[in-house]
Amino acid sequence: MHHFLKETDFTIEQAQQVFALAKEFKANRLNSPQTLNMQSWGLLFYKSSTRTRISFEVGINELGGFPLVLSSQNTQIGRGETIEDSAKVMSRYLHGLVIRTFEHAIVEAFAQHATMPIVNGLTDFNHPCQLYADIFTLLERYSPEAMDLQTLKGKKVAFVGDSACNMANSWIHTAAMFGMEITLAGPTGFAPTGAIDAALAADGLPKQYHYTTDPKAACRDADVIYTDVWVSMGNEAEATERKQLMAPYQVTSELLAMAKPDACFMHCLPAHAGEEVSQEVLDSPQSIIFDEAENRLHAQKAILAKLVELNS
Ligand code: CP
Ligand code: NVA
Repeated sequence: MHHFLKETDFTIEQAQQVFALAKEFKANRLNSPQTLNMQSWGLLFYKSSTRTRISFEVGINELGGFPLVLSSQNTQIGRGETIEDSAKVMSRYLHGLVIRTFEHAIVEAFAQHATMPIVNGLTDFNHPCQLYADIFTLLERYSPEAMDLQTLKGKKVAFVGDSACNMANSWIHTAAMFGMEITLAGPTGFAPTGAIDAALAADGLPKQYHYTTDPKAACRDADVIYTDVWVSMGNEAEATERKQLMAPYQVTSELLAMAKPDACFMHCLPAHAGEEVSQEVLDSPQSIIFDEAENRLHAQKAILAKLVELNS
């Protein structure tokens, strides 16, 4: 069974096909092939969501499938039914399951016991669906016709803020996969951890990212400036401390001006204006945040279609 738990669960060649398909889906949104005809896909949430939930629900519907939104709390999972039994039972009804949860081990356990494809809709460790939408969004800028991943090689990404969060991990993994340069800037104590180094090693990818405490050094000559919230879901108890420590890492117009003149600003959203990014940057012509959000829909439809093909 082919799952999508991390960026490298598709080969480069398969990823290239996913981006080409996403382009087709976007160009002809309401005329998608009915790849999920008569299939029912679950969307299981242990955490809040706007974009992931809506884009998958709409996307599954547009591919001819039936999306069933579930929460951990109002299923028996919330009362202690095991992942193993839940995965086996849900596999008897559903044709696939998207999961947003806390520990990455939960999606891995679902994948181990399910007999249907599992898609990672964010864990504490990574957010691969977001990265596929982000890469699709960058390809629209750099290679709008061919969507050629080669055009990303050597592009410089600056990730500013919580450099140990799920989005930072996913960016490190994706940059290594597609040959982009990445520098992360965050306060001491929020550097990338050994977990992402182990994930790179497991995939045979080089540990080539840079980390600095200096946001200006990271943003100098960057092609892409990316940030994410300072307080991720699950970190709420540390909110005050995190906001204090990360205050020097707000993406401001001054920081954006350090990047290349045609650089873009990206954020997975939701954003907290005045914290990790200024309102001015969010509103600037260099900001492509709403394209990213829209592209969740097109990229994820392509991911689902690819999974169905690989599992058939
Ligand atoms: N970017 C993202 O995953 O958004 P949601 O939390 O709204 O799903
Ligand atoms: N790092 C954020 C991403 C939200 C899409 C979180 O985990 O809350």
